[in-house]
Amino acid sequence: MAEQTWRFDTMMRLDGKVAINAGAGGLGQALAWGLSEAGAAVVVADVNMTAAEEVAEKIRAAGRQATAVQVDVTVPAACEKVVALAVERLGRVDVLLNGVGINQRCPSLEMSEELWDRINDINLKGAFFFAKAAAARMVRQGTPGKIITITSHMGLVGLEERVPYCASKGGIVNMTRALGQEWAKYRINVNALAPTFTPTAISAKALSNLELRQTIVDRIPFHRLGEPEDLVGAVVYMAAPASDFMTGQTMVVDGGWLTW
Ligand SMILES: NC(=O)c1ccc[n+]([C@@H]2O[C@H](COP(=O)([O-])OP(=O)(O)OC[C@H]3O[C@@H](n4cnc5c(N)ncnc54)[C@H](O)[C@@H]3O)[C@@H](O)[C@H]2O)c1
Repeated sequence: MAEQTWRFDTMMRLDGKVAINAGAGGLGQALAWGLSEAGAAVVVADVNMTAAEEVAEKIRAAGRQATAVQVDVTVPAACEKVVALAVERLGRVDVLLNGVGINQRCPSLEMSEELWDRINDINLKGAFFFAKAAAARMVRQGTPGKIITITSHMGLVGLEERVPYCASKGGIVNMTRALGQEWAKYRINVNALAPTFTPTAISAKALSNLELRQTIVDRIPFHRLGEPEDLVGAVVYMAAPASDFMTGQTMVVDGGWLTW
C-alpha cells in the first residue's frame, strides 16, 4: 500500500503562520477568529481601528497572538505598510484574507461617478493592491503563500441596482484566476470565497426590508440566511496546506443560491 502522507492535523492547521485579516466587519471578525483557532497569528486591519482592535483583543484574550492596524485599502502604500508592520511585529506573512467591502443600492440611471469609483476602489482596487503587497513579501521571503479574497454570489450572477458592486465582485472572480495563474510560479495560491446574504452591516439595509428578506430566504435551498461561521471552514481550507494544489478558484458557500 502506498504510504499515507495526508494528515488532517497538519493539512488544516496554520501553526506558525501569520495571516493578515483585512476587514473587521461581520464576516471579518468570524474569519479572524477562525484563522487564529487554526493556529495563525493574526493581523487585523480595517479603516475602523476600534473594530480592528476589538477583534484582535478577543483573540488575545483567548491566549493567542493578534495585533490590530488601521488601513484604508484604497491606498496601495497603506496596504504595503500593513505588510511591513506584520513583518515587524510577527516576523512574516503567509496568508492574506481580503475581507473588506462596501455596497450601496442605486438605480443605474442615477449612478454618480463618485459612487461607482468608491465601490470599485474599495472592493476591487483595494483587493488587488493588498494582494500585490502581500505577494511581494511572500516572494521576498521565498515561502509559499495563500491569498483569499471575499467576492460574493453577486460576482457570479447579477442583481439589479447593485451594478458597481456586481462589477467589482465579478472583477474579483476573474482577477483571482489571472493572479492564480501568474503567481503559481511563486507557490502562491490565489482563491476567492463567494458568500450569500449574511446579516452584517453591509447587508443590514437590504435585510431590514422584510419582503426582500423573505424573497432571499425563499431563494436559498437551505432556507436561511448565511452566518459568518458558515464561511470559516472554507477560509481555513484555502489558507491551509490542504488547498496547496488549488488556485484561481472561487469557492461558493451560499446555501445553494447559485444552484438555480
Ligand atoms: N454580509 C454579506 O451579506 C456578504 C455577502 C457576500 C459578500 N460579502 C462580502 O464580504 C466582505 C465582508 O463583508 P461584511 O459582511 O463583513 O461587511 P461589514 O460591513 O460588516 O464589514 C466591512 C468592513 O470593511 C471595512 N472597510 C470599509 N471600507 C474600508 C477601507 N477603505 N479600508 C479598510 N477597511 C474598510 C469596514 O470598516 C468594515 O469593518 C465584503 O467584501 C462583502 O462584500 C458580504
